[in-house]
Amino acid sequence: MSRLPNRRIVLGVAGGIAAYKAVDVVRRLRDRKCEVRVAMTAAAREFVTPLTFQAVSGNPVHCDLLDARAEAGMGHIELARWADLVLVAPATANVIARLAHGLADDLLATLCLATTAPLVLAPAMNRQMWQAEATRANVLALLDRGVTMLGPGEGDQACGEVGPGRMLEPEEIAARIAARFAARFGGGALEGVEVLVTAGPTREALDPVRYLTNHSTGKMGYAVAGAAAEAGARVSLVSGPTALPAPPGVERIDVTSAEEMYAEVMARAAGCDVFIAAAAVADYRPARVAGQKIKKGDAPAALDLVRTPDILAGVAAMDGGPFTVGFAAETESVQANAEDKLARKGLDMIAANRVGVADRGFASDRNALSVLWRGGGRELALAPKADLARDLIALVAERYRAAHPA
Ligand code: PMT
Repeated sequence: MSRLPNRRIVLGVAGGIAAYKAVDVVRRLRDRKCEVRVAMTAAAREFVTPLTFQAVSGNPVHCDLLDARAEAGMGHIELARWADLVLVAPATANVIARLAHGLADDLLATLCLATTAPLVLAPAMNRQMWQAEATRANVLALLDRGVTMLGPGEGDQACGEVGPGRMLEPEEIAARIAARFAARFGGGALEGVEVLVTAGPTREALDPVRYLTNHSTGKMGYAVAGAAAEAGARVSLVSGPTALPAPPGVERIDVTSAEEMYAEVMARAAGCDVFIAAAAVADYRPARVAGQKIKKGDAPAALDLVRTPDILAGVAAMDGGPFTVGFAAETESVQANAEDKLARKGLDMIAANRVGVADRGFASDRNALSVLWRGGGRELALAPKADLARDLIALVAERYRAAHPA
């Protein structure tokens, strides 16, 4: 378990049935040696008493903005400054709407507005409310401002319906916070681990001026490399042509074609512990590359193509090779195709994403991933690629450590 010794977390509790689970969130954070102070909305106090949170957190609970006695102790601005991170769990539709609009009409909303610490929300609400257009717009506005959303999960709801809107389990919330801020707080989940990542597209030349390629910009793979470095890993990034700078602390190796990417990866794979293939590698290249620019009149009616080497399958097949994580870019049957690739290529894990839609996949700043491994999986909801990459790295670290106990 990653620990966050002496890290200070303000937990905002809003008024939803999942407020009872927030008690366990405090316990799980304290297990990780965090100091937790709880701020409750008036509606939250209808579900759980402040006394309960006082007992589990070991600190007085903050309830009112306009309470002279409480303000004389630790006032709302002081509390906002005290926090290394503000977590709101459960974050109801109402709280999300108030935060999206910058309201400061109670202690919790004011705290969120006044803090410079990272703000993390764990939404919990009825599925219809989560899918409502107004909530979607509010969530997107908060994501654009750098707020992190943990979940929600899917499943049975307290209202009797089934669907997205369940608050994530307390252990998962605590684990994801621990992983996300491990680099900032020290004690990264991949400390001492060698990670090799591929990113971006490849270009397969037809002649000196033309090539076959795809829409990959490298954003996803670069975010994964950056998140691995943040988590303490030594990271090498074999990158196809992109316009992106290398993330801090990451060694970048530039390549152009699938063959070059294969050669650079194979030269490094035996020396790494984890291999993550986020590149969109061309499956085919032209059989012949013309030495001179092909003239209009000389263009062949059809292109002869040959297969490129499958880099991911090559690494996964290595004897004693690294923990191997593939990506799957799919336009349909995302889950089924990813399961097939996981088994067929002999991978430890696969992260599948939908491509061909506007709000995710190629070139977008956001993505959503279905992460699968043998016997398990996790849905990572639509989020900025940087956040998603951190969540993916937290899962990779968890599975890698489970496969290689110290
Ligand atoms: O770069 P962005 O604009 O941010 O877009 C992100 C992304 C959509 C490119 C990324 O999230 C993604 O899905 N990357 C994998 C794209 C892909 O090639 O998927 P695939 O399903 O065709 O391939 C499956 C896996 O095999 C991938 O891990 C791929 O890197 C690997 N592969 C494929 C062919 C090949 N010759 N060698 C490989 O290693």
